[in-house]
Amino acid sequence: MSTGLEEIVAGAARIEADAKRMINGRADVNQLLPLKYRWAWDKYLAGCANHWMPTEVAMQADIALWKSPTGLTADERTMLKRNLGFFATAESLVANNIVLAVYRNLTNPECRQYLLRQAFEEAVHTHTFQYVCESLGLDESELFNMYREVPSITDKDAWALEHTRALSDPDFRTGTPEADRAFLRDLVAFYVVFEGMWFYTGFVQILSLGRRNKMVGIAEQYQYILRDESIHLNFGIDVITMIRHENPHLWTPEFAAEIRAMLLEACELEVAYARDTMPRGMLGLSVELCEQYLHFITDRRAEQLGLAPLFGETENPFPWMSEAMDLKKEKNFFETRVIEYQTGGGLDWD
Ligand SMILES: [Fe+2]
Ligand SMILES: [Fe+2]
Repeated sequence: MSTGLEEIVAGAARIEADAKRMINGRADVNQLLPLKYRWAWDKYLAGCANHWMPTEVAMQADIALWKSPTGLTADERTMLKRNLGFFATAESLVANNIVLAVYRNLTNPECRQYLLRQAFEEAVHTHTFQYVCESLGLDESELFNMYREVPSITDKDAWALEHTRALSDPDFRTGTPEADRAFLRDLVAFYVVFEGMWFYTGFVQILSLGRRNKMVGIAEQYQYILRDESIHLNFGIDVITMIRHENPHLWTPEFAAEIRAMLLEACELEVAYARDTMPRGMLGLSVELCEQYLHFITDRRAEQLGLAPLFGETENPFPWMSEAMDLKKEKNFFETRVIEYQTGGGLDWD
């Protein structure tokens, strides 16, 4: 497998796009061109076109509402803090997985180019929680320790960490069916479960506040994060699908059953988290509706992975969420942007 750090073989034969492989490739990973996986390059371009920074979003209305004793109910405050507390460290866990587990095992430069972009986006997301924490004057220690102090958050993060830790041995190498499957499990745990299922309760809760004109700055930031995450999820699905296509021997019926079991466990963990963040209904949400929504999302993820549905839930109880996720429609949401990134940097050359 090529890592890109091998000695340069002067005068070696030029590479053909056909020689590129998702995993266990031997083609030089330092040569982006010729492209083979155009979908990865397209996602890199889409990520760049969506560039944003949390500090562009005005927080005055959120600060006023948060400081007002009657601005939010006690339940809304608890939900908001636990929601922010989950994301505050989740973004770092996802970033660490990209950099420490995924990058070195994906042996083609188009995917690595996207991973570099994604890693930066995760840094922007972590920045968002720092910015929100500072703007509202939240207890940073409470927020950033929640993943060790709130059991339903600990349980989710511990579940995902097990899969990335399996790859953390410096001697871990793909190339055996056992190791390749460990890598696929990690991709499912982070791209499909973490970014594709566990972020969605959080999005529903915050966008529900925003729809009622509460914490509108945070809601706008979550819309940007949702837009980024939907590309992360789709990239992960494409990576898994292409690895499976190139290595059909890995995807045995037993392995497919194992992945379905992972989705089921992940869904149960998320329902427990939903119960913890809002034990009583609020904002038109309830644990029951969130559970139905999670069943719907889990089935959708199973379908994207070519697996049979787990729940047979065909009705999305929050149809407005699919609108917020639809990238074409979302362009309208975001056209209020005032900062133009295409005009170059702010360097003064005189
Ligand atoms: Fe993120
Ligand atoms: Fe992400």
